[in-house]
Amino acid sequence: MTFTPLGRQEPARTDETLLDVARRASAPVGNSCGGIGVCARCRVRIVAGSENLTPPTEIETRIGSQRGLSSDERFACQAIVLGDCEITTTYW
Ligand code: FES
Repeated sequence: MTFTPLGRQEPARTDETLLDVARRASAPVGNSCGGIGVCARCRVRIVAGSENLTPPTEIETRIGSQRGLSSDERFACQAIVLGDCEITTTYW
């Protein structure tokens, strides 16, 4: 995974979410619900490799629609990394 524009890279391990990998890479991602998909603070934009993420979960779809999640955005705590991808946030 690549964290842009931080310039950090970190491979994902089996069944890790974007949030898990970001934590290991010391890429700060907001979160306040403990990763259960209800706070929307972990929203990140997928720059590349969205096909390498699991599809949005039911709660991500529901809460994301309430919070105006764009088609290129995901909740980092809900998306499991299956392959290479690149993400960014508004605060990096
Ligand atoms: S950490 Fe709360 S929605 Fe992801």
